[in-house]
Amino acid sequence: MSAERSKEAAGRAAARLLSDGMRVGLGTGSTAHWFIVAAGEAVRSGLHIQAVATSRASARLAEELGIELVELDRRGLDLAVDGADLIDPQSRLIKGGGGAQVRERLVAVAARRFVVVADAGKMVAQLRGPVPVEILQFGSDATLAALEACGAPFSLRTDAEGRPQVSDSGNLLGDGHFDLISDPEGLARRLDAVPGLVGHGIFLGIADLVLVGDEAGGVREVAAGRSH
Ligand code: A5P
Repeated sequence: MSAERSKEAAGRAAARLLSDGMRVGLGTGSTAHWFIVAAGEAVRSGLHIQAVATSRASARLAEELGIELVELDRRGLDLAVDGADLIDPQSRLIKGGGGAQVRERLVAVAARRFVVVADAGKMVAQLRGPVPVEILQFGSDATLAALEACGAPFSLRTDAEGRPQVSDSGNLLGDGHFDLISDPEGLARRLDAVPGLVGHGIFLGIADLVLVGDEAGGVREVAAGRSH
């Protein structure tokens, strides 16, 4: 009995949405991991899908499991499945704990159906920080100051040796240390207006369905209304 069991239940439930010929987005993180594992098992049993990975780590796992990887292109995707750090009652999300939120957003928006997989610990009454951000290296200090004018201190992520952490796209990763976020739409708009910000982890109106796994291996479905 553990969060791991819940994550596995949610990830495996999402894999039951796969069907032959689909183009599929593969999320990043420890819950999306289980979706990829289950998709790999289905592929081994004869399912044919093409997949776009949101990170090098997910691409590596998919490759190991024999899932065919393709580029994201204008045809879009039939389904994308990804985890989230926090999910509020309106299925608004904080994503990017793993630093992949820019690619994750591209893939989620390109998908005709975006399914979020999570354990119950991710469900909250109100979103809060940290809000992950990806910023250009050029002018990063000026960008951080502009981000802080949105109402919270920001910090850059560093690795064990104190070097800045970069995304798979080579940009700096950081976090905005917001407390409770009373107006996610307003905050997202303010962040979006900062030049030098490549992307943030507030995902609004994108999820179609949330699958919440429990420790007994069950899954609760929360329908979410995508607004764009
Ligand atoms: C990766 O950048 C994130 O958006 C993940 O999807 C999110 O952090 C959830 O990860 P876990 O499933 O590992 O909690």
